[in-house]
Amino acid sequence: MAFVYFLSSTVCAAKARWRFNMEKKPILAGVIGSPAAHSLSPLIHTIWAHRAQIDGYYVPIEVPASYDEFSRAMDALKTIGFAGVNVTIPHKENALRYSDKSSDLAPRVGAANMLTFTDDGSYAENSDVTGFEKAVKSAAPDLSTKGACLVLGAGGASRAIIVALQNLGADNIFITNRTEEKAAALAEKFGLKAVSWAQRKGAVESAELIVNTTSLGMSGQPPLELDGAKIKSGAVVADIVYTPLETPFLKLARDAGNPGVNGLTMLMHQAAPGFRAWFGGAAEVDEALRAALVGELERRR
Ligand code: ATR
Repeated sequence: MAFVYFLSSTVCAAKARWRFNMEKKPILAGVIGSPAAHSLSPLIHTIWAHRAQIDGYYVPIEVPASYDEFSRAMDALKTIGFAGVNVTIPHKENALRYSDKSSDLAPRVGAANMLTFTDDGSYAENSDVTGFEKAVKSAAPDLSTKGACLVLGAGGASRAIIVALQNLGADNIFITNRTEEKAAALAEKFGLKAVSWAQRKGAVESAELIVNTTSLGMSGQPPLELDGAKIKSGAVVADIVYTPLETPFLKLARDAGNPGVNGLTMLMHQAAPGFRAWFGGAAEVDEALRAALVGELERRR
């Protein structure tokens, strides 16, 4: 009996020591993409880790665009002891496919931007959805989604925005896209109304919440041509782009006195759940963080 007690207490002590040592190892996380090097996520996580005095590294990892490459890379990161990763273009669908378990949100979007590695495997989440919700609420705390909401674009980013709008209570969502079949497909999948690309100006003018998920307005791309469209007074305008910080479309809205949300606000909010899950610290989205990111974007120009 005494031996059993000795053995179990020794094992417990060893386990505790092992845990203690493990806890002393730096926490590892990163962002997987192709490309990955341009990502601002390492800076965001490094700032939060520094603030919370957490010993950890968050690194960009370039993985070629195939499921096999993605899956091999995830197996390796799990073995090394990574706590989790953010996942960006072109791997968000791969992340969901690779995961053993997921939140409800990720399959609704059909993609995940977070994978958390646990003893039981990997868990997929989509914080693009919650990041967008938080970003919009930060710009318009009294936001009403009772009126029409308009989503411009039907690519990968637009699915997360649609799910977020539905979570915010919107049930009158219009979608428009240059390639109209893609808008029709998302309209069918999510129960939205499709508007032809030629009629987007009219749709913009009647919407209470407008989100540009196309790449139009991004540096080096043409602007989102709306030929003098008027945005409803008080309507909230969001643009997922953050280079430039203020796209011509956002400027149109802000000049008219409408609340605007840029892609940087969404980026900071989507990063927070990953930091909390992997590094276990507070992830405040505040002006100091924004200023650091704006400084970095200016440095890169
Ligand atoms: P993401 O994953 O960031 O959404 P994506 O899947 O490549 O990227 O989608 C890009 C979006 O921008 C699409 O809605 C695309 O329209 P198409 O489906 O017609 O390609 C839109 N887009 C890109 N360039 C455009 C342009 N010059 N005019 C209109 N829409 C454009």
